[in-house]
Amino acid sequence: MEGKICLVTGANAGIGLYTCLGLAQKGAEIVMCARNGAQVKEAQEMIISKTGNPRIHTMIADLSSMKEVKSLSQEFLKRFDRLDVLINNAGLFLSDYQETVDGFETQWAVNYLAPYVLTRRLLGVLKQTGSSRVINVSSNGHLRGSMDFNDLNGRNGNKGSKGYDGLKAYSQSKLGNVLFTKELAKRLAGTGVTCNALHPGVVRTSIGNRNNSSWIAWFWNLGKPFMLSVQKGARTSIYLASSPDVSHISGAYFILSKPATSSENSNDPQLATKLWTVSEELTSGFLENGK
Ligand SMILES: NC(=O)c1ccc[n+]([C@@H]2O[C@H](COP(=O)([O-])OP(=O)(O)OC[C@H]3O[C@@H](n4cnc5c(N)ncnc54)[C@H](OP(=O)(O)O)[C@@H]3O)[C@@H](O)[C@H]2O)c1
Repeated sequence: MEGKICLVTGANAGIGLYTCLGLAQKGAEIVMCARNGAQVKEAQEMIISKTGNPRIHTMIADLSSMKEVKSLSQEFLKRFDRLDVLINNAGLFLSDYQETVDGFETQWAVNYLAPYVLTRRLLGVLKQTGSSRVINVSSNGHLRGSMDFNDLNGRNGNKGSKGYDGLKAYSQSKLGNVLFTKELAKRLAGTGVTCNALHPGVVRTSIGNRNNSSWIAWFWNLGKPFMLSVQKGARTSIYLASSPDVSHISGAYFILSKPATSSENSNDPQLATKLWTVSEELTSGFLENGK
């Protein structure tokens, strides 16, 4: 990975942090993106001291704000003139309804819309770099997902936010990641840029603890001894970012570094195209310069 630049979101913790560490060990130049400046600086220092690779940078953006997603892409383009690997890793699970500054439900915004906007805004540099890769960290949670175009924010009709189902919203956002991967791969055919999605395994991170449901946190803690370590959880992202075996694969879904079958909904090309168009309408104010 010497000479290659990788941008990783959610880089201060969990799978993202260990993805950065693994890629730094392979000699890549890394741009670690996070919303918490102090934490990502600490993570950057840890990676530099563990790997001896000094080419580790940080950028700050809260991906729940589409304005900050846009600024992140602008800052990246100001500082770098190539992008070999974009890893859309940041994500969260929420049990309660929360709304972003743009008025989107937060899981929908962070897990799905932010990768959509960031990737589209960086397509120019990805194409210009050539042989570059986009990697979307989805989840097997997408298997129970469906796309509710009448209620993408999960407000559940006249019940409003009281009718919110956090697991349903998470599944929809992760289905969005796979549909986006497939549609983007189709649109990028022949450009040298590939796009793949993955499920990292069930990984011992804090994702199940950062919500207001005590039973979900309890259940998540109970399962932790049986989950993959974060080092193992990062392996599929590192594999898709670096292995020559996948350099020509695009539009695929991987589990534990092996191609896998994603859900029936995620393989519906009409649904993928519709989602692309709807996402474009929802985020149009933040896409300018995106090609
Ligand atoms: N762990 C699993 O078993 C599992 C299974 C399937 C898929 N995944 C996927 O793997 C990815 C990484 O999750 P993880 O398990 O490593 O969880 P994690 O340890 O909670 O890490 C999530 C990362 O996303 C960042 N993030 C959340 N909201 C953000 C926002 N508004 N702006 C910027 N960054 C934000 C977090 O930053 P803060 O620290 O600042 O919150 C953190 O860096 C997610 O996409 C998740 O859906 C995980």
